[in-house]
Amino acid sequence: MTTQSTERQAVVDAFHHLYYDQPENTWDNTYWLGVPTLKCPLDLWVYQEIIFELRPDVIVECGTCKGGSALFLASMCDMVRNGRVFSIDIEPQRSRPNHKRVRYILGSSTDPDVAGLVRQQTRPKDRALLSSIRITPKSTC
Ligand SMILES: C[S@@+](CC[C@H](N)C(=O)[O-])C[C@H]1O[C@@H](n2cnc3c(N)ncnc32)[C@H](O)[C@@H]1O
Repeated sequence: MTTQSTERQAVVDAFHHLYYDQPENTWDNTYWLGVPTLKCPLDLWVYQEIIFELRPDVIVECGTCKGGSALFLASMCDMVRNGRVFSIDIEPQRSRPNHKRVRYILGSSTDPDVAGLVRQQTRPKDRALLSSIRITPKSTC
């Protein structure tokens, strides 16, 4: 690594620690339209750019939690007038937001049956986008 790239990496690491090590001030205190959204707003900005550019027909989100990011993705689909969101989680939650573009799926995103369910509801020519946390069959929030 060059000195410059080492310094850049140190800044990235510092930001990462500042952001992720104080959840009560950052990702655990972030809302989209009032729904908890466990994301860094900078990432959501990039999502918006990707959705605007690619205008996907289908977005598959692995890890719903409270549903804030699913609602954010659906809102972006509303704005570009295209796209549906399949949001998968191993944990059920009662209070996830309803949105006509969102379908929640209970199960593991690593389960072939869940992947099959999503495939059944999409068309071969659909352009898809995958939004995922680092997922293992039994990872937790
Ligand atoms: C960080 S939270 C998701 C946050 C949400 N996308 C947001 O931005 O508001 C991670 C979620 O992944 C779920 N999860 C963990 N392992 C999973 C798996 N194998 N398949 C689907 N969901 C999983 C957890 O139950 C948890 O709700």
